[in-house]
Amino acid sequence: MQDPFEQHCHQNILIRLHTGYDMPGVGFGTLGGHGHAPQSPDSPQTVAQAVEEALIAGYRHLDCAECYGNEAEIGGALCKAFKTGIKRDDIFVTSKVWNTNHSKKHVRNACQQTLKNLGLEYLDLYLIHWPLSFQHTGTAMGVPRDTNGIVGHGRVPLLETWQEMESLVDDGLVRSIGVSNFSAVELGDLLASCRIRPAVNQVECHPYLAQKNIRQACEAFGCKIVAYSPLGGPANQGCDDKRRVLSDPTLEKLASNRGCTVAQLVLRWLLQEGIAVIPKSSNKVRLEENLASAALDELSAQEMGLVRCLDCNVRYCNPDWAFGGSQVFEP
Ligand code: A2P
Repeated sequence: MQDPFEQHCHQNILIRLHTGYDMPGVGFGTLGGHGHAPQSPDSPQTVAQAVEEALIAGYRHLDCAECYGNEAEIGGALCKAFKTGIKRDDIFVTSKVWNTNHSKKHVRNACQQTLKNLGLEYLDLYLIHWPLSFQHTGTAMGVPRDTNGIVGHGRVPLLETWQEMESLVDDGLVRSIGVSNFSAVELGDLLASCRIRPAVNQVECHPYLAQKNIRQACEAFGCKIVAYSPLGGPANQGCDDKRRVLSDPTLEKLASNRGCTVAQLVLRWLLQEGIAVIPKSSNKVRLEENLASAALDELSAQEMGLVRCLDCNVRYCNPDWAFGGSQVFEP
């Protein structure tokens, strides 16, 4: 008999983590207008409504984070879904510890608070959101800055944070652990000293930012990539002056040849590269369209190659949190 999780995911693509758990390839992003992304206008209620619609549409992978400031509302949506017969084990839920909570004691408190907000007993995946710590502020959102706007960095080594994440696995609070926004070097450093290897590195990834180096490193370490902003993120709402992935002429042509949307083509391309995607949408039609990308016919080698050629190092998410106020990633 088919596993119920596999049944629910029959139209999705499952990606097996080294921990033995399966993660649906198409997940649902829940970044709203709070936390560190004020460019997104979606209130916690709007995101929770979208999560309800996503679960009805068939999504079984939710990507959350304490710093999005909407986990309690998403917990409400999950509670409703469970009343309709969806089981906890049918859904793969990710959350992330925020930069203000990197110390041993705060990691555990943060995870427990996330579980309480989401109304869950365990997380499928828990990530270190960024490879840098901020001063502990007592809130799980925002960036501590002094009156001159200088970021208040913390002094917590990443290994301390990781070791507490490992103990969350030991204690059954989370099933798999991973990282986000880690470079190949940071990942290698962690691998040299960890007891439990990261199962996932979640990074910005789309046709304009194919992340070759990080992907190579992850592949060597048996770590899967989850692509955030797979459609090019905030640029889609016209709040960024960069080139828009969804208006790319090559992608438009490939999509029209196949009779699918550009968003579907992009998501299908990432999935076929072995990368999980977490597109975010508060629009019912678009969120259904995004999920359906997993059921598209395979892209040919030629189509895959044409999309690969679009890589041009356009990054939409590069906050100025590094020391001295510089951007986290090299421009
Ligand atoms: P909306 O919520 O109005 O659908 P990303 O997942 O790369 O961060 O992109 C999210 C942005 O892309 C949001 O602005 C979202 O707007 C928009 N978006 C999501 N899905 C689609 C789609 N299928 N077609 C066009 N825009 C989309």
